Amino acid sequence: MKNQVLITPAKHLRGEITLPGDKSITHRAIILSSIAEGKSYLKGVQRGKDCLATLKCIEQMGVPVREGEKEVIIEGVGLEGLKEPEDVLNCGNSGTTMRLLAGLLAGQRFYSVLSGDKFLRKRPMKRIVDPLREMGAKIEGREKGNFPPLTIVGGELKGINYLSPIASAQVKSCLLLAGLYAKGKTFVKEPYKSRDHTERMMQYLGISIKVKGLEVQIEGKNGESFKGKSFYIPGDISAGAFFIGAAVSLPGSRVKLSNVGLNPTRKGFIDVLLKMGAEVKISNFKKICEEEVGDIEVRGGNNLRGVVIQGEMIPRLIDEIPILTVVSCFAQGDTLIKDARELRVKETDRIRAIVSELKKMGADIEERKDGMLIKGGNKLRGALVNSWGDHRIAMALAIAGLRCEGETTIADTQCIDTSFPEFQKTLREIIV
Ligand code: S3P
Repeated sequence: MKNQVLITPAKHLRGEITLPGDKSITHRAIILSSIAEGKSYLKGVQRGKDCLATLKCIEQMGVPVREGEKEVIIEGVGLEGLKEPEDVLNCGNSGTTMRLLAGLLAGQRFYSVLSGDKFLRKRPMKRIVDPLREMGAKIEGREKGNFPPLTIVGGELKGINYLSPIASAQVKSCLLLAGLYAKGKTFVKEPYKSRDHTERMMQYLGISIKVKGLEVQIEGKNGESFKGKSFYIPGDISAGAFFIGAAVSLPGSRVKLSNVGLNPTRKGFIDVLLKMGAEVKISNFKKICEEEVGDIEVRGGNNLRGVVIQGEMIPRLIDEIPILTVVSCFAQGDTLIKDARELRVKETDRIRAIVSELKKMGADIEERKDGMLIKGGNKLRGALVNSWGDHRIAMALAIAGLRCEGETTIADTQCIDTSFPEFQKTLREIIV
């Protein structure tokens, strides 16, 4: 990906696209396959930099990884088979890599260090460090454990009953991975349901895990191992959201996305678009490897209206808020996004970033502590904008540029490679 993207206004989008594999599911499939017994076959692996960072980390711990013809083959070393990495495990820009691996590493009998790029080194780790310490983990980081690099001296862990103050799948998954190695049971309860891919994948692998509403329970150290399996990774709805958002915003558009992950904990974006009056249809609905999958057809119209987005909906569309903000600019009336304070600690402060860049394009948008207020209906004009080094901000701005008057240049777009290296190519294919 070049470091600058030029977007010219588009009339509408037409065509069918294939999305990269789901990023969240790819991370989990790599991690769980590495501690399974024997081979796992991963089809649809996402090849953005984030997932490649996870793959590299597990290779550094002695897990053989091979490229098959159509899949990645991981030769699992079993629960106790990981080896001490000789060097720092570099998580790059990926919060998921760091937080999930921290949980896995806390229960190993070796020393390890997790670090990442300048953005990741500013992201809060206390949210995992505190409960991991409660489990008995020896884990340190800068500023009393809040910032990477994290150093972990793995060892004996005990199960805990943890009530998480935030709905975070990264926190939940970190503790479930640590719980797998702990003595006794670990309970994790969250205020709202966050994405549940870890729970589903653990069930798929036959790991003893129970889900009761907002609480998940895992039984660790029971001597049970689990076997490698085949994983089918569906298309990433968070990547698809950019094209869906573009298509609903450009009247006359008709776009189809095939084999997209439709897990209810990830589908909030579609639910909100339907509430806004968008034409989005789902077909070919099925379940593969415990995950819902289907095709999405979108038609662009002229009748989007503003909505309020808050509460339990937020974790179901947390990564889609930048593109949802863009879509709201093209809707009639106000859209209010609240309870989304978590956006301030993503790859960048996404509230500040999207508000300030869309303002440069003429949007009527106001920053709030926990979200934003968008007054839709203003005509946007092309501008020179910046991604703030955040892939989702860069892609959301590219979509905004399609419905601007005049050209838009987005600076600092290399970050798109973290989740979607083929973004620009895919977009070009459907611009008419
Ligand atoms: C992710 C969970 C979310 C999301 C991130 C990926 C995951 O973060 O924003 O992009 O794969 O578990 P939180 O769980 O911290 O909200």
